[in-house]
Amino acid sequence: MGRICIRGGRVLDPSAERDELADVLVEGGRIVAVGPPGADTGGAEGVDASGCWVAPGFVDLHVHLREPGQEYKEDIASGGRCGVAGGFTALVCMANTQPVNDDPSVTEYILDRARQESPARVYPVAAATRGLAGEVMTEMSALVEAGVVAFSDDGRTIMDSGVMRRVLEYSGLVRVPIITHAEDRTLVREGVVNEGPVSTRLGLPGNPAVAEVVHVARDITLAELTGAHLHVAHVSTAGAVELIRAARERGVHVTAEVTPHHLALTDEATLGYDTNTKMAPPLRSQRDVDACRAGLADGTIDAIATDHAPHAVHEKDVEFTAAPPGVIGLETAVPVTLDLVRAGELAPLEWVRRLSTGPARIIGRPGGSLAVGAPADLTVIDPERRWVYDPAKGFSKSRNSPWIGREMIGRAMVTLVGGTLVYDAHRGVLAP
Ligand code: DOR
Repeated sequence: MGRICIRGGRVLDPSAERDELADVLVEGGRIVAVGPPGADTGGAEGVDASGCWVAPGFVDLHVHLREPGQEYKEDIASGGRCGVAGGFTALVCMANTQPVNDDPSVTEYILDRARQESPARVYPVAAATRGLAGEVMTEMSALVEAGVVAFSDDGRTIMDSGVMRRVLEYSGLVRVPIITHAEDRTLVREGVVNEGPVSTRLGLPGNPAVAEVVHVARDITLAELTGAHLHVAHVSTAGAVELIRAARERGVHVTAEVTPHHLALTDEATLGYDTNTKMAPPLRSQRDVDACRAGLADGTIDAIATDHAPHAVHEKDVEFTAAPPGVIGLETAVPVTLDLVRAGELAPLEWVRRLSTGPARIIGRPGGSLAVGAPADLTVIDPERRWVYDPAKGFSKSRNSPWIGREMIGRAMVTLVGGTLVYDAHRGVLAP
């Protein structure tokens, strides 16, 4: 971990409202100076960032690393490699592993594996209820002591409102957010695509937007009652965006994330029955996509989170109803979401904020800042770089992406975690 100078890039640091050409000097794992380009840095190793953006490392609030238990889909090492290759320096991993992360021993295992194997920082989320069954709360204080940053039954929904109320009450005591997977199961039923003209044309059971809206309304109401911090995962509907916007205006402690696929694709992408367009919640209508983009732009939605959800080829290569929901997303989030910058909907600094400062604040961990003294977690983005996405050339063990073969514009070129150069697009993943 020597001295590294990131030279001549456009530094975008939302924590300081900084957007200017500058050099960033890193030493001893931390940022030691940010200043005018070209200054003498005393023989530091140089990274040429000219024509590129230099940003705090991205923090993904929502990934499935599949370890322990489903390492054939992904593991902490391969997921960590996908992260740094996509510009992410920290990954918040969901609890639906096997066994479920509902016990400090599982949390400690994940953290231990991450320390040894992952180039990205890993922050585990624990299940809010034992076995994700939605019935009995987990031992929250023991899990927080073990290192979890939030609780969530993601992948499942806590349907029992009394359980959800208690979970929110206790989360306030241990000061971590509850991340809700908001899909009312009694409305979803067998639904696998957004309910509407597309589900009718496909002849597939529909999952209505209202399943999300009803659930977000309930959870906001309970967050308001308890004063707890509610974080809404993968918002996909115009109705949920409206509810969150109104709740925030009332002062409810609610934050939210949206995925790149819900910002970029509508349910029409599913018309070819491609199971790589099946996810939970499903792709929605153009009106919903527009509302999510507007919500991200006006700050109602704090964060872009990938919901990186690897599944093996043999699991996805089946009829649509039988395929598991989810797509990988860590290595394509940058180009897919840069579309909002190109469309003039997000300024570059705001785009960086939604990927770094916003999510870091939600979990209350360092990150999202290039201030002197901050950990040197940063990424260099070439916003113009053109490339064709081929998951076989990427770092995931899985291939389930809706972007296979698509031309991408924008790419993470270099990533540093704690001052160590962990990724270089020309050389690959370099550490650990
Ligand atoms: O699409 C999804 N995949 N949504 C979820 O909530 C779970 C995830 C998974 O674990 O595969």
